[in-house]
Amino acid sequence: MALEGLDGSGKTTQVNLLSGWFSSKNLQFTVAREPGSTKTGEAIRGLVQQRLDLEIPSETELLLYLAARSVFVKEAVMPVLERGDVFLTDRFSMSTIAYQGYARGLDVEEVVKLNNFASHGLDPDLYLVLDIPVELSLERLADAKKEKDRLELAGIDFMEKVREGYLDIVRKTDNAVLIDGTEAPELVHLKIREALVNEMPTAFGI
Ligand SMILES: Nc1ncnc2c1ncn2[C@@H]1O[C@H](COP(=O)(O)OP(=O)(O)O)[C@@H](O)[C@H]1O
Ligand SMILES: [Mg+2]
Repeated sequence: MALEGLDGSGKTTQVNLLSGWFSSKNLQFTVAREPGSTKTGEAIRGLVQQRLDLEIPSETELLLYLAARSVFVKEAVMPVLERGDVFLTDRFSMSTIAYQGYARGLDVEEVVKLNNFASHGLDPDLYLVLDIPVELSLERLADAKKEKDRLELAGIDFMEKVREGYLDIVRKTDNAVLIDGTEAPELVHLKIREALVNEMPTAFGI
């Protein structure tokens, strides 16, 4: 399954809380982040997110994220799913559709098609989408004093488009649950657990 949402929405926090829960249930699981989690993927991450000296056209940005996804699915995800373990990723295809499609303004249908090629057609069992207002995202990032990457530097209007994109995608997607990310971390965690038990009872039901 995949956690999604704006930066500062609490993805990393919730991945850590979920890891603790999986461990307590003796589930075999792997956590990862996208882009990244393979050598090639981390190299592409460095290029597309940190090399702020480069001017990268939107199409190129899209293809870099998809290049990272193709190796991620092949090398990081598939072996884990093949042995029947749980795979939890911090961001996946929905990020690309929200950021490069809705927010950068690339044709969403085209982005979905290209993404299917890059992801080898793999769709997570469930997307957990953490929703927070853009202002709260900015507040949390300022508090955390995290260095901003290319997309975080794109501005408030851009982030609003990303948020609206996420909301629209969730409305149109069966395997996605919207989670209010403004609540306290423990409460958000409980809502996520509830969603997992409801949506994936075979894996997470009592
Ligand atoms: N539910 C929450 N309420 C308040 N602060 C939070 C919450 N979840 C995360 N934070 C804080 O907000 C910042 C960003 O959280 P993080 O989990 O890194 O988000 P993301 O991975 O989505 O960027 C961190 O400083 C974190 O401690
Ligand atoms: Mg994070």
